Amino acid sequence: MKSFNDLADFTRDEVLELLKLAVRLDREPEPEALRGKVLALLFLSPSLRTLASFQAAMTRLGGGSFVISPDMSIHGLETRPGIVMDGTAAEHIREAVPVIASYGDAIGIRAFAERKDLQKDLAETEFTALTELIDTPWINMESAMNHPCQNLADWKTLDDLSIPENGGKFVLSWAYHPKALPLAVPASTLYMAARRGMDVTILRPEGFELPAEIMRKAEHAANGAGGSIRETDERREAMEGAHVIYAKSWSSTRHYGDRLGDQGLRNELVDWCVDEPWFDTARDDCRFMHCLPVRRGVVVSEPVLDGPRSVVIHEARNRMLAQMAVLHQMMGSST
Ligand code: CP
Repeated sequence: MKSFNDLADFTRDEVLELLKLAVRLDREPEPEALRGKVLALLFLSPSLRTLASFQAAMTRLGGGSFVISPDMSIHGLETRPGIVMDGTAAEHIREAVPVIASYGDAIGIRAFAERKDLQKDLAETEFTALTELIDTPWINMESAMNHPCQNLADWKTLDDLSIPENGGKFVLSWAYHPKALPLAVPASTLYMAARRGMDVTILRPEGFELPAEIMRKAEHAANGAGGSIRETDERREAMEGAHVIYAKSWSSTRHYGDRLGDQGLRNELVDWCVDEPWFDTARDDCRFMHCLPVRRGVVVSEPVLDGPRSVVIHEARNRMLAQMAVLHQMMGSST
């Protein structure tokens, strides 16, 4: 495997193979599988789970890892293209990325969306500019529109909970958050659930529709997998018979890159906090999913987050297992 960037780059059988490997590595550890291998981790955006789970995954497979982030660079890391570097930063990302990559057998890169220009973010312009600098196998640890490690872990979580593929009802719900957040998780989670063959309802207020390109990609996946996609702002109807609600906040696509416009819309939506009454029309065993980090009492009520519906810790642990499978395929001797 040369790169792990998007579930769309893999056949269904290849995804299922990774999921099977993740289950096997949990049951039958392979502490020598990546002995002597090194994973470079470049975080241009913050993380808790991705950083810790990749380091844990490498250690469990017998390899090592190192982390670089702008905060750690004593030279100061410049990321802007075409800049005259006469300010504080003495190191440019164009040298830093290939240098860091050359120390590893693979590299993971996290770079969130710039969130100024939707078309540029949809095209993954910034992330591609980084991966084009290297020949080393690489993993997308979250870019403008993709978070494939989260998607693989979430697919595994749905499997672990025996939530049906065809006929399983998956509600991807917008939730209130004081800040405008990136589209990577909602866009790629929608794709994951569609690709799994589920009936997906996107529950979102007006102004927070997902971009047409993201919808088309998911609809194509749903058609191929026997699932469906629909959108609504009607909560009771959306939740009817739901097996799972996956909550996430995201930027207003109507006001993308316009902080004040976005704020004006979201300020009216503080009641979009997932709470027990949301589940009135759902299945009794409807689960609550979230990629974390999550703001308690803002995105989701404490009773739901701490209650039996919540599988957020299970999801987070699956990050490590899913990534072990990816690392094993990318750097193991079987490839
Ligand atoms: N879900 C996720 O990617 O978490 P972090 O941002 O903490 O890595």
